Amino acid sequence: MPVEAFDDLSALGQEFVDDPYPVYAELRSRGPVHRVRTAASGEFWLVVDHEVGRAALSDPRLSNDIRQSADWADDGGNSIGLNMVQTDPPQHTRLRQLVAKGFTARRIEALRPRVRKIADELVDGLLERGQADLVEAFALPLPLAVICELLGVPAADRKTFHDWYLTSTDFTRPEAAGAAAGAMTGYLAELIAAKREEPGEDLLSALARAMDEDEDRLSPEEMLGMAFLLLVAGYETAANLLSSGVLALLRHPGQLAALRADWSLLDNAVEEMLRYEGPVETTAFRYAKENLTLGGTPVARGDSVAVVLAAASRDPRRFAEPDRFDIRRAAGGHLAFGHGIHRCLGAPLARLEGAVAFRTLLERCPDLALDTDPAALTWRPSLMLRGLHQLPVTVG
Ligand code: HEM
Repeated sequence: MPVEAFDDLSALGQEFVDDPYPVYAELRSRGPVHRVRTAASGEFWLVVDHEVGRAALSDPRLSNDIRQSADWADDGGNSIGLNMVQTDPPQHTRLRQLVAKGFTARRIEALRPRVRKIADELVDGLLERGQADLVEAFALPLPLAVICELLGVPAADRKTFHDWYLTSTDFTRPEAAGAAAGAMTGYLAELIAAKREEPGEDLLSALARAMDEDEDRLSPEEMLGMAFLLLVAGYETAANLLSSGVLALLRHPGQLAALRADWSLLDNAVEEMLRYEGPVETTAFRYAKENLTLGGTPVARGDSVAVVLAAASRDPRRFAEPDRFDIRRAAGGHLAFGHGIHRCLGAPLARLEGAVAFRTLLERCPDLALDTDPAALTWRPSLMLRGLHQLPVTVG
């Protein structure tokens, strides 16, 4: 097939959404960098190779600040530059350091028993029902409860939060999506104000202290951007790891049996799930600050570049037989958490959630099985996130 057949990714439809890997493999066989377009984002460069992708993510000539984009039009909006994914040093360094202070290994590790309890409660519900959509009944509620606990969002508000989140990411209903995002922001602003009045042990309270005490104070807008980012970055991503990971195991019974027989394989199995079916398909856009060459391809100043992490993690020059799911392979070096200064800040938490969730689910449900033909499963239509709509299972 000619490369042009792939240049409009939106036109590839649900078949590409459900299984993008053959398209990425075909593109990769022709070169590391390609000009593509989508209905939502216009034209941009797509990097599909591990080495070039990794280099691009640590290249200071590629900016995360949309004001470097040739398409940037200043509409007077003031929301830019308030969250760390959209900023460059030194602003990025400052924002990241402030949150990293509250995101300590100790605070993460302290969550382990809570994650186990949340997983246990969800599995109780699954066992009672015998049959469920694992996305709705396990994969989504677990990370939501964890992130809400970490941030200090009261348990009673989580259901509302979940509904807002789903509506705010529904691109088929832009008005409702905007209203839900607005409601979420309003709620967070009130919550932050409450934490400043009466701080607790949670991360929002720690950040709220940084608003008042640190030399490098967080402005109220930055604080809001941070809370919003943490919630969004830590929710659907981790949910996708759980549902895609369970699917990979159920579709590879030999691997599942090996894991059940030897739990010391668990941490590496999580790495392999991240490599094989990573929750983030494509990074946020980078914008060329100057004319440059990427993997031999000239990229003009102001052009947008996205690295396909899902393609980099299946690059045969980095991983032998990349389409084979193998929980014993050396999966480290995958790019599922990105690379460079924007590398995922929540990776230790995501790994902990994965390990605890998979072990709890598999130990307590020895007869867990798919309740549908795998060919009938569909994936959410997003170039950025890769996750299943539903995962029907029987539980026993
Ligand atoms: C399996 C689950 C997760 C995956 C696969 C994942 C993946 C990623 C990736 C690929 C990036 C970099 C994006 C880019 O360079 O454009 C990123 C950034 C980030 N992630 Fe995660 N993430 C996960 C879970 C989490 C969790 C649980 C949290 C926090 C609660 C989190 C917080 C963040 C933050 C704050 C950033 C921005 C870092 C920066 O710009 O410096 N992530 N994540």
